[in-house]
Amino acid sequence: MKILVINGPNLNLLGLREPDIYGKSTYSDLVGMIRAEADRLGVEVECMQSNHEGALVDAIQGAYGTADGIVINPGAYTHTSIALLDAVKTVGIPTVEVHISDVDIREAFRRVSYIRPACVASIKGHGLEGYLEALRLLVKQD
Ligand code: DQA
Repeated sequence: MKILVINGPNLNLLGLREPDIYGKSTYSDLVGMIRAEADRLGVEVECMQSNHEGALVDAIQGAYGTADGIVINPGAYTHTSIALLDAVKTVGIPTVEVHISDVDIREAFRRVSYIRPACVASIKGHGLEGYLEALRLLVKQD
């Protein structure tokens, strides 16, 4: 089984970015945690991050025929992007939406997720552990 983990804008600056909300661990710490959990679960994992919406669409499209599951934190594009929703619907790969913070108890605009209807699950507010939960969920469903 192969899982693609996609992170959207500003998540490359984890650690620096609003640490009171997103924590002090860096993006590279996150990738290390994801790789360790994937090894433990016996699955292949690929991690990518981009600040560009089109690159995220390309990554989702590229997963077609190559990945069995997607974990995605679309960052702010969660609340704006129909293109990401359409891409996930197009490839039909089981996808889990992850948010480090609890988007439902923050500003009202963060309560809207365009991608959520195309996802098999949404995990929010569990910090970086949420990505590991998403991996476990996809492995269990496979
Ligand atoms: C986020 C929440 C989004 O509202 C925000 O724009 C992000 C990160 C999270 O992981 O909590 O960039 O997706």
